[in-house]
Amino acid sequence: MPTQVPGPAPYPAWLEDAVCYEIYPQSFCDSNGDGIGDLPGIVERLGYLEALGVTAIWLNPCFDSPFLDAGYDVRDHRLVAPRYGTNDDLERLFAAARARGIRVLLDLVPGHVSWEHPWFVASMRHERNEFSDFFIWTDHAWRLPDGLRAVTGLSERDGSYVANFFVHQPALNYGFANVEPGHPWQQPVDAPGPLAVRREIRDIMRFWLDRGASGFRVDMAASLVKHDPGRRETARFWREIRAWLDTEYPEAALVSEWGRPSEALPAGFHMDFLLHFAQGGYTPLFRQGSRHSMMGDPYSWSFFDRSGHGNIRAFLDEYQRDLAATRHLGLMCMPSGNHDMGQRLADGRDAADLACAWAFILTMPGVPFIYYGDEIGMRTVRGLPSKEGSYDRTGARTPMQWDPDGVNAGFSTAPPEALYLPIDPDPERPTVAGHEEDPDSLLNRVRGLIALRRAHPALCAGGLFVPLLAEAGRLPFVYERRAPGAAERIVVAVNPSASACAADVVGDPGSGSVETLYGPPDALVARGGGWQVRMPGVSAGIWLVR
Ligand code: NOJ
Ligand code: CA
Repeated sequence: MPTQVPGPAPYPAWLEDAVCYEIYPQSFCDSNGDGIGDLPGIVERLGYLEALGVTAIWLNPCFDSPFLDAGYDVRDHRLVAPRYGTNDDLERLFAAARARGIRVLLDLVPGHVSWEHPWFVASMRHERNEFSDFFIWTDHAWRLPDGLRAVTGLSERDGSYVANFFVHQPALNYGFANVEPGHPWQQPVDAPGPLAVRREIRDIMRFWLDRGASGFRVDMAASLVKHDPGRRETARFWREIRAWLDTEYPEAALVSEWGRPSEALPAGFHMDFLLHFAQGGYTPLFRQGSRHSMMGDPYSWSFFDRSGHGNIRAFLDEYQRDLAATRHLGLMCMPSGNHDMGQRLADGRDAADLACAWAFILTMPGVPFIYYGDEIGMRTVRGLPSKEGSYDRTGARTPMQWDPDGVNAGFSTAPPEALYLPIDPDPERPTVAGHEEDPDSLLNRVRGLIALRRAHPALCAGGLFVPLLAEAGRLPFVYERRAPGAAERIVVAVNPSASACAADVVGDPGSGSVETLYGPPDALVARGGGWQVRMPGVSAGIWLVR
């Protein structure tokens, strides 16, 4: 067994048993019948989140925006978009959530703004002004920057600008790590423009932290400094931000959309996501191969696949390497899905498959992130046109399904054609109220698993993770969790395959006493120098061993 010297955790203490819930605000709950979810709607549903056991919300951008990228094109960082409510409504959400033990993380978009943002409008002008150097402009409309996406022909200013994502999202200027000779328009990271941008981002963070936000999910966190090999200068910026937070807002949490924990955590983030666009992470677990393919290697399967053809090593090799490298730096976080994946966890999976996947998600280290609706097995709605720049992401952004009998599944009282996106038309669509009635529903299982996690320090964020049986071509996958410095030990086994499986597992069986916390009783039995584990098809088990 590896040993770990207990020391101060490299993240705010509240993250230790945190469970975070991502809310896409336009699709969660509409309080005023205009067809668009809003902040008072979220306040109305806080009781649901509290009962689910959630301790934090990640709210996708809720700021003033022309909504060409669903709000990731911010026009005013300090103003709540009127369609979601007012700044007061957001402060009310912070306070009402906190009263239920729930913190709210806002979405910070530091890499770019909307082309309607006053900074960018000013920077498009011919005359030099305070904002001329807030963005990356070449020195001639016909000069396009190498290796960067540029837009030309829109401005009075003679130059082309660098876009960070869509054309309407001009990149803020954090400077270039390596300024190329002969390209004077590339500014060093300590030029006045980049320094001013950095100050503004900090001020925006301060503005919302002072009003009750508990931290930020940071959009495209690795994208800031250009021509930055290894993202060293970008990391330097985040470390400065982190040092400032540690001094002034030590309770605030930062989670990056970086997808490489081995870079993001040394860069100062408390948490980084295991994402679908990284090599390991989400994809080999949930989205690879013939049945669930999105980014398709046709010869390998997701681990969570009934075929049993998945290979846990495709996830674990990188995961264990990164876990070892970042154990003292921060947390690697497992999302059930997110607003960018375009596919819901539930696609191609039934309730038993999902329960098995959730048992894994909710017993892994780091902070689990639940994408709204995944806890009831909401499905992707196919064939929808793009909405606000969603393109292939649309189908996993549809309204939350609350009530089987309510108008628009209880999301909104607006006429169906006025909804932000249509409700899943499937008559069998899952709803919260429908799941509440059935003690064995996915929702109730997820609720039970969250309660179990939070009751056992071994299962929480910083608990040790030790694979006991994790081999290609063998099931189940078995691992132990143990809180550093504590005696409690928990063994977890997952068998996503439709076939039953059994294995002898090497490990310290302690006194041989096994208490079933979840799943099949008597499936784990102490034997010799370890255990014997027997798992039915598509099952997961969690046992306290002494
Ligand atoms: C990542 C966000 O999650 C995504 O929704 C957005 O379109 C891009 N960044 C651009 O901000
Ligand atoms: Ca509304």
